[in-house]
Amino acid sequence: MEKWGVVILAAGLGRRLGGELPKVLQRTSENTLIGHLLCTLMNKQNEATSARTSSALPVEVDRCVIVTGHKSDLVEQEVKQGFPDQCSRGVIRFAHQAEQLGTGHAVRSAEEAFRDFTGPICIMYGDAPLLRPSSIKRLLEFHQENAGTISLLSMEIDNPHGYGRIIRDEAEGTVLEICEDRDCTPSKALVREVNQGTYVVDSAFLWSALSRLKNDNAQKEYYLTDIVSIAVAEGQRVQALPLGDVSEGLGVNDLADLSLVNKALNRRRLEVLQRQGVYMVDPESVWIDPEVKVGGGSHFGPSVQVKGASSIGSNVIIDGHAFIADCAIADNVHIKFGVVASGATISSGAQVGPFAHLREGTELGAEAKVGNFVETKKAKLEAGVKASHLSYLGDCEIGEATNIGAGTITCNYDGYKKSRTSIGKGVFIGSNSSLVAPVTIGAGATVGAGSVITKDVEPEALAVARATQIQKAGWAKKKRLKTGPS
Ligand code: UD1
Ligand code: MG
Repeated sequence: MEKWGVVILAAGLGRRLGGELPKVLQRTSENTLIGHLLCTLMNKQNEATSARTSSALPVEVDRCVIVTGHKSDLVEQEVKQGFPDQCSRGVIRFAHQAEQLGTGHAVRSAEEAFRDFTGPICIMYGDAPLLRPSSIKRLLEFHQENAGTISLLSMEIDNPHGYGRIIRDEAEGTVLEICEDRDCTPSKALVREVNQGTYVVDSAFLWSALSRLKNDNAQKEYYLTDIVSIAVAEGQRVQALPLGDVSEGLGVNDLADLSLVNKALNRRRLEVLQRQGVYMVDPESVWIDPEVKVGGGSHFGPSVQVKGASSIGSNVIIDGHAFIADCAIADNVHIKFGVVASGATISSGAQVGPFAHLREGTELGAEAKVGNFVETKKAKLEAGVKASHLSYLGDCEIGEATNIGAGTITCNYDGYKKSRTSIGKGVFIGSNSSLVAPVTIGAGATVGAGSVITKDVEPEALAVARATQIQKAGWAKKKRLKTGPS
């Protein structure tokens, strides 16, 4: 095959998806629906989801015409931003369908843009983003090998509701027609082989068949699918190629479908990571965003989300129930159960949690330890710092190997402004201390438990700032004798 064209139908509003967006601008975790399809067609694949399908398309698309309708300016803007080069070279073009009178009518709107074109044309719906390049390649090859007029992708599914059914001749098995869901007789409705919605059609036949479509059906629309029965009546060859992995065929008609598409994309990304040596106890409950990198030997427990611009090193253990966004996590880190972390940098060998909250600007040095019920924000903890229990550490830097006792609070806010706490290396902060910022604790100092520190502490000094303990000998016994046992 020397050249082939593509028509993408993208005129629909997608009312069932809610809101006013054109359907093809609905977003998955990776891209808009139309963006996905164009990446597949223009060999601009997302590395994460396409790593298993190395097969790029055999021949570059000569011309790709996108049929727009609802808010066409928004769709064009999105495509031009994503594919400026292909748009300026005329590889991607636009055709307008002013009124949405059906998929057949929509393809007809692209005829003018193919006036001087003779090769086969692949027709796709802009609402099915999961098709892999390898499947499009197989359909193109299948079309060539069989010298057919129409070749289309079909899929066997348990619940064919909503899809057009592929009706075959009982004796010969040849394709006779595609019957739309709403036009099915009860017996046709039982057919489980359905039309996925990707076709390769010889262009001369296509334009002639489209001009003969009628809208005498349940939806009063001009169905593209009727070109099948037109071809059969003319004695042309129509063949359906079953899709190996039916999850590729999923179309987005409502928000439930959008969730399924997101799940399928996530599953593809996880599969790539699993093959690179990342272990997940329960992959069904792990969500990892497209840009996230994870090193080999890492281990994820159930219910982990890793979002945004995050990176996770090698041999990292994430116990489970963690939400991690925009974090850089180095090798050998242990994220224990129930951690929420965003905008944090965590160096190698550090331990976090269980139940810790690392907020933006947190930097944990190598082997640092942040334990249960500790919250950090704009806090730089150098190597080996331990804050093992029940603390708030905000707007502070803490020197190497310092120990922060349970219940330590950096009082960074006086109701008007934020101030910093600076703690040197090798410091011991006793439990339940309040460090009222701005304040500096010198290297090697000790702060007695229960202190409220309002003044700087010199290096190597002991600071105790609490009421002095008094003791009255025999007081308790005397009281007991007087008032009796309690
Ligand atoms: C269509 C097929 C059905 C197939 C299913 C696969 C037809 C008649 N039916 O049904 O056989 O099983 O896809 O998902 O083709 N569009 C336009 N202009 C229009 C109408 C639709 O651009 O006038 C666009 C839509 O925006 C959408 C695509 O065409 O991107 C498909 O339309 P949709 O209404 O989703 O068709 P289905 O009912 O899913
Ligand atoms: Mg659809």
